[in-house]
Amino acid sequence: MVALRSVVVGCGSSLPARVVTNDDLARRVETSDAWIVQRTGIRQRHLADETETTSVLGIRACRAALEDARLGPEDIDLVICATSTPDHTFPSTATQIQAGLGIHQGAAFDLQAVCAGFVYGVATADKFLTTGSARRALVVGAETFSRILDWEDRTTCVLFGDGAGAIVLEARESAGTRDDRGVLNASLRSDGRHRDKLYVDGGPGSTGTTGHLRMTGKEVFRFAVGSVTDVIADAFRLSGTSAEELDWFVPHQANRRIIEASADKLGIAREKVVLTVDRHGNTSAASIPLALDVARKDGRIRDGDLVMIEAIGGGFTWGAALIRW
Ligand code: UT7
Repeated sequence: MVALRSVVVGCGSSLPARVVTNDDLARRVETSDAWIVQRTGIRQRHLADETETTSVLGIRACRAALEDARLGPEDIDLVICATSTPDHTFPSTATQIQAGLGIHQGAAFDLQAVCAGFVYGVATADKFLTTGSARRALVVGAETFSRILDWEDRTTCVLFGDGAGAIVLEARESAGTRDDRGVLNASLRSDGRHRDKLYVDGGPGSTGTTGHLRMTGKEVFRFAVGSVTDVIADAFRLSGTSAEELDWFVPHQANRRIIEASADKLGIAREKVVLTVDRHGNTSAASIPLALDVARKDGRIRDGDLVMIEAIGGGFTWGAALIRW
């Protein structure tokens, strides 16, 4: 049977030039390189300067993805930007990225699922592409979390970084088997009862301010390891694949211990796990496309590889997608 599949045809990323090490942070708050590395695996993060807004980083990442795909602005008819740190309340960061790239056709919108935003973005773009509503989509995760951190709160400010990553998805006719390239399936979940474990204490409709990130890290940790593996199990079941057949596991990069515990629980070998949290910190919706770009550029991810992406974020929101690269 011939069906449409959303095939990854390019990826790119962008990081601010400024690198901040754990030792740099230890001069600012009561913390240490040893604590941060032992609890999270993070060694450094990139932080945006005042000129580097989310759309600026997003435009750079999308431009790199378009170059990688050998496509131009005229080829894209959908831009989805996953972000929790938009330049402004409105217009959407996606429309600013669209304009910055010189794309004047199709639709662009932001998608808000916090750290799960990129997985939500891939799942959403896949619906547009496989139903024929769009032909080629840029899905970008772009964040400047440094702007919503409480820099006095050592329990959160050491964890996050800024950056952006993007992929180009193209609708292609496919025989539709699990061996054919493209997004095989995506499973999304959310449960708003967990709001108080990870949230921002402000917003345009409540305080009229931007607010700061607040998190009960232990509770998020427990949920991340204990519950979110359901979507990964779903992805394997729906595609008729298994952990043994997986080539690369590219999870949201929040904490090395969460990632390794999840991989162990699912029977995914440690050498198949792509880890960038040491270099990037937690860049929320940008973390997966940043990691995909690293693993693609260093030659690990090759065409035809089976790649699992997975994330959990505030809400809680969580999801997984299985991609034949
Ligand atoms: O992307 C969104 C998803 N977010 C996450 O996935 C984050 C999930 N949670 C985590 O990654 C971990 O819970 C943390 C890394 C945030 C914390 O690790 P933990 O092992 O859960 O530590 P804890 O919160 O239980 O804190 C242990 C101790 C506390 O001191 P006491 O009460 O035992 O005296 C904290 O005050 O570590 C202290 N502490 C710190 N010490 C040095 C907390 N933050 C720091 C710090 N430096 N930066």
